[in-house]
Amino acid sequence: MTTKNSEVIILGIESSCDDTAAAIIRDGFILSNVVSSQKIHEEYGGVVPELASRAHQKNIIPVVDLAIKRAGISKKDISAVAFTRGPGLLGSLLVGTSFAKGFTLASNIPLIEVNHLEGHVLAIFIKEKEKSTDHPAFPFLCLLVSGGNSQIILVHDYLRMEVIGQTIDDAAGEAFDKCAKVMGLPYPGGPHIQKMAMSGDPHRFSFAKPRIAGLDYSFSGLKTSFLYFLRDNLKEDKNFTENNLSDLCASLQYVIVEILMNKLRKAAKQTGIKGIALAGGVSANMELRNSMHNHAKRYGWNVYIPKFEYTMDNAAMIAITGYYKYLKGEFAGQDSVPFARTKL
Ligand code: KG4
Repeated sequence: MTTKNSEVIILGIESSCDDTAAAIIRDGFILSNVVSSQKIHEEYGGVVPELASRAHQKNIIPVVDLAIKRAGISKKDISAVAFTRGPGLLGSLLVGTSFAKGFTLASNIPLIEVNHLEGHVLAIFIKEKEKSTDHPAFPFLCLLVSGGNSQIILVHDYLRMEVIGQTIDDAAGEAFDKCAKVMGLPYPGGPHIQKMAMSGDPHRFSFAKPRIAGLDYSFSGLKTSFLYFLRDNLKEDKNFTENNLSDLCASLQYVIVEILMNKLRKAAKQTGIKGIALAGGVSANMELRNSMHNHAKRYGWNVYIPKFEYTMDNAAMIAITGYYKYLKGEFAGQDSVPFARTKL
């Protein structure tokens, strides 16, 4: 195995769910970021694991090829390959893992395994050419909100993170998606709820917030009470959902953001930390972003939010994590296997 000393070029591979992605990062700067999203799942209202693995198998080579071409480098310039080891769908993860192993074996370069969640947190460190981006100083807090996770993470260093609060049941993204589904909105529901909410009244309907101790979250109660609320109103008016869609979306979005921010505020107070980052797919939500900026003004927080394309599942975040692991010489063996469930 060879390691190259001068510049470090990492190929990142992400295949944990329904996006096949590849990215190239040179010394922390992004050179290319390619994502192929699988549309096939829309008609099923959620990701179908078997279809996802098959689509990854079809997409992985063209996606990697495009990432290398767009980066303007050649295969032999790559210093190491970083891949998502988990958490995610096992069949999907196997495609990226096997590809990364094959590539590193053929090129005789190091293989680096990356925890998908760590990748989401480190997305904030991706640098862009000719643009000075502001990065948080350690330690900072990160609110990681996606389709599978809602966590408050205390980030001590690039590769040293501590979960100080997390959901005990559903994730915030799941609450968006499942409530969207009962309103007949397409999958994934989060962006559709945000769009409808723009013309709605966030205070028209109120939904109970969970009472969970400490810094943990819970979203399953909200989902159930939303479902029962719709069911009861539909008995009186069969067009209740369509007639009140904007207000329903605005009220739901309002309460989800309130729940997320209440615990984040508590965590900031408890730790005395004012550097706060946002990560994961739900951080694309404008109401959540606005609330972060309002908190920044009110509580003197320094807020860090990655660019939109680095909040959703992507390989640039895997490549940047791979870069920091490369600098520390944290390499994986060819016997590395994916994990459907892993923690930080
Ligand atoms: O991190 P991510 O791309 O992947 C998974 O964890 O699967 O997050 C996807 C989640 C979905 O639940 C989606 O509905 C949610 O992020 N999401 C949003 C928005 N954009 C994506 N939720 C609320 N508002 C948005 N604008």
